[in-house]
Amino acid sequence: MIEQFETTGFICAEEKTSYGKYEAIKPYFYDDKRKIALYNGDALNLLKRVPDKYIDLIFADPPYFGNQSGLVIKRNDGHADSFDTQKAQWAYSKSLNYQFEFHYSWLKEAQRILKEGATIWVTGTYHSIGVINVVLQDLGFKILNDIILHKRNAPPNFKGSCFRAVTETMLWAKKNTKGRTKFNYKVMKELNGGIQMKNIWEYWAEKNPFRHPATKQTIVLEYVILAGSNECDLILDPFAGSGTTGYVAQGLNRKCIMIEIDSNYCQLIKDRIEGKYGEFRRKTKTKREVQKPASQVC
Ligand SMILES: C[S@@+](CC[C@H](N)C(=O)[O-])C[C@H]1O[C@@H](n2cnc3c(N)ncnc32)[C@H](O)[C@@H]1O
Repeated sequence: MIEQFETTGFICAEEKTSYGKYEAIKPYFYDDKRKIALYNGDALNLLKRVPDKYIDLIFADPPYFGNQSGLVIKRNDGHADSFDTQKAQWAYSKSLNYQFEFHYSWLKEAQRILKEGATIWVTGTYHSIGVINVVLQDLGFKILNDIILHKRNAPPNFKGSCFRAVTETMLWAKKNTKGRTKFNYKVMKELNGGIQMKNIWEYWAEKNPFRHPATKQTIVLEYVILAGSNECDLILDPFAGSGTTGYVAQGLNRKCIMIEIDSNYCQLIKDRIEGKYGEFRRKTKTKREVQKPASQVC
């Protein structure tokens, strides 16, 4: 089954029916033209089916496990009437032991499937990112940067109980300490007006016409994918959510595999990739790309 990857670009249950001890699985959605595959299932199992050293870049926005309040907060700030902090079950609070085991399981597989020199980008809340940081180090990843995502129009702290949280941390790490890091330094510098790019990325969050409580902004994925991969590279997102990674990857002419456990979100991802919420529009371009748009067929 996995051999199909080379020809189609994805893990598809086509001619062969098994890979090793596993039965073949069919993607929920596979777009041959855009080179995007989506699997509806548990990343902890599905990642085991990807061959060693296969992936050029991983972006992951795993469950946060920090949602402790269970509150439905009433709002009087002109936005929606209330904000249900417990809507997303995957964000529910879990013990530290559980969190360590969860992150250890998927990050171990992520490390195995990354090519040498390739990188992983992991976002999290201020609770979850601490656990992820320790697990990355324990597994022997090389942490390259902590990138601060500064949302300039972040909502207020509704209760006024602490500071307004406007940032999120994204850890950028290499598979291990060996070899050269896959990093398009010059492209990022050019996108930043010829100045070396900092580890603080500021942006204005845009509203989406669909519902997912944790959709990442496309500009963040645009930077990640441009910095850590090249055209036709294969990208993987094990916690796809609303599919931002695949949506941006196809727009930047990269192949992408996504995994999402919730089938309702899978339908949303499919719709999004097919352009039902609008075609991807790139926000950044280097001078060369403005003059000569990418055209490589993958
Ligand atoms: C923080 S959201 C990701 C949001 C995504 N970055 C986006 O831009 O839409 C995490 C997603 O992981 C999914 N998820 C949780 N546990 C999972 C698992 N074990 N395997 C695969 N997906 C999982 C949730 O359903 C949720 O949609």
